[in-house]
Amino acid sequence: MRSAQVTGDDAPGRAHGPSVQESSLWAWTTQDWAVNAGYTDSRLVLLWYRSAQWAIAHGGFPGRVYGAVYRLLCSLFIGVELPPEAVIGPRLRLFHPHAIVVNPAVRMGADCVLRQNVTIGNVTRRDGTEKGVASLGDGVELGAGCVVVGDVHVGDHARIGALALVLESVPARGVAVGNPARVVRIDAGR
Ligand SMILES: CC(C)(COP(=O)(O)OP(=O)(O)OC[C@H]1O[C@@H](n2cnc3c(N)ncnc32)[C@H](O)[C@@H]1OP(=O)(O)O)[C@@H](O)C(=O)NCCC(=O)NCCS
Repeated sequence: MRSAQVTGDDAPGRAHGPSVQESSLWAWTTQDWAVNAGYTDSRLVLLWYRSAQWAIAHGGFPGRVYGAVYRLLCSLFIGVELPPEAVIGPRLRLFHPHAIVVNPAVRMGADCVLRQNVTIGNVTRRDGTEKGVASLGDGVELGAGCVVVGDVHVGDHARIGALALVLESVPARGVAVGNPARVVRIDAGR
């Protein structure tokens, strides 16, 4: 469970349709809309996040200013840090978009679910060096309050329990719970 090395189908950030450079504003900004039906707050946060990504890719200097303003205001007033630099596949679902922190270097596949108080990021050692940033495959579900940090990979369709602290990689379809998180089950394929 230790290695963060990822190959083949489990590689994060692999192609999930057109990139932000290739997409129209409408297609890019609405890619998460349908799967967040019933969660207007989540829809609006994701619309804002995707529009910042699109503006940075297409809008030159004004676009970069828009991206910086999004980042500041979304953090200050909504308490969500979803940086435009983070590579997140389509159909991201946010259940209760509060106190979510995602490192800019995070790569996440399609169809993932983030709940309130989730952190995905880095670990800084005492000497100031960094361990690296976590990545997620497709269809990964993170429970409320869970923290996934360091150079670890959470495999496709893995489910991480509420309040888990993930310090080691989790295999595809694994169910991991606790602090530190342990894999308690590998679910059958679906
Ligand atoms: C981890 C999770 C996905 C597993 O769900 P599941 O597949 O139905 O698995 P089970 O409920 O059978 O749990 C498997 C084992 O892990 C334990 N477990 C489940 N969730 C846990 C958690 N968050 N922390 C610690 N242990 C947990 C169960 O007690 C069970 O232990 P046992 O086998 O000794 O009885 C789910 O429990 C979870 O935490 N989901 C996130 C829910 C959430 O954040 N909701 C917020 C709503 S606002």
